[in-house]
Amino acid sequence: MSDDTEFHDRMLSLGLARVAEQAALASADLIGRGDEKAADQAAVNAMREQLNLLDIAGVVVIGEGERDEAPMLYIGEEVGTGNGPGVDIALDPLEGTTLTAKDMPNALTVIAMGPRGSMLHAPDVYMEKLAVGPGFEPGVVNLDMSASERVEALAAAKGCKPSDITVCILERPRHEEMIAGVRSTGAAIRLITDGDVAGVMHCAEADVTGIDMYMGTGGAPEGVLAAAALKCMGGQIFGRLLFRNDDEVSRATRAGITDLDRVYTRDEMVTQDVIFAATGVTGGSLLPGIRREPGWVTTETLLMRSKTGSVRRMEYRTPVE
Ligand code: FBP
Repeated sequence: MSDDTEFHDRMLSLGLARVAEQAALASADLIGRGDEKAADQAAVNAMREQLNLLDIAGVVVIGEGERDEAPMLYIGEEVGTGNGPGVDIALDPLEGTTLTAKDMPNALTVIAMGPRGSMLHAPDVYMEKLAVGPGFEPGVVNLDMSASERVEALAAAKGCKPSDITVCILERPRHEEMIAGVRSTGAAIRLITDGDVAGVMHCAEADVTGIDMYMGTGGAPEGVLAAAALKCMGGQIFGRLLFRNDDEVSRATRAGITDLDRVYTRDEMVTQDVIFAATGVTGGSLLPGIRREPGWVTTETLLMRSKTGSVRRMEYRTPVE
């Protein structure tokens, strides 16, 4: 293990982009093939292989699951050569496995890296999430408001009518009441079938994506990844863990969480500067998907650093047989 504790985010960022790119490329042949598991496994293998080439002493804090359920990239797995800074890594090698298997929009490979101790060790449980983009007063909306109150508060802050607001929500039976609440204000809803990391990220570029706010319940690991993205892009996210049984509570306890009802802000989920990379697998309003032309394959990666607020969009084109 290295004793170098400084997190050279500038130097590491390009390496992180390569990790996201290679995971996307590995899943390319599985787009639209109806096999979620195979697509995910291909991305996991490639992400792990690439991470192990980086000069870091990395620990996966948000990964594929707990050690006994995930053979690779499990929570606590050490990655990297060990010669470099100690870092925490949050990853989702394929965010939107079903989207990939069905060739539907907005599947991404996602990875974030920060100094040791910089990211919430969120257990694999659900999280209630609420997010808006940059430029609003802290707490302009909050998790204790009803869905309609959130729309009204955001419209007032934006200086527009509630009917001018668009909310992104995962289409799930558990969200029926929330959807009705939003509809009662006249606001529009973009329903997505999967992929709430992208859903949250859409709020940070509302002018481009048309999404003002994200709300609803999804995976807690995805909540931390979304917080890392917003830390770089600007914007607010609030998350509260939800537990369905004792096993889920003990997952939280094992992760060191004592206050089970706590509402986490973006900067409580991600406490220090991070770098974030996402590569489009299937095309969406955030990133184009993998493009194949005779002899070539092309990806686009969003690479961001929260320290500087810099955003790179990197096109990578490589020959294929
Ligand atoms: P996977 O890529 O692991 O399939 O996750 C997709 C996803 O839609 C996440 O974006 C979201 O947080 C979660 O699943 C929602 O969970 P559920 O499908 O149980 O509602």
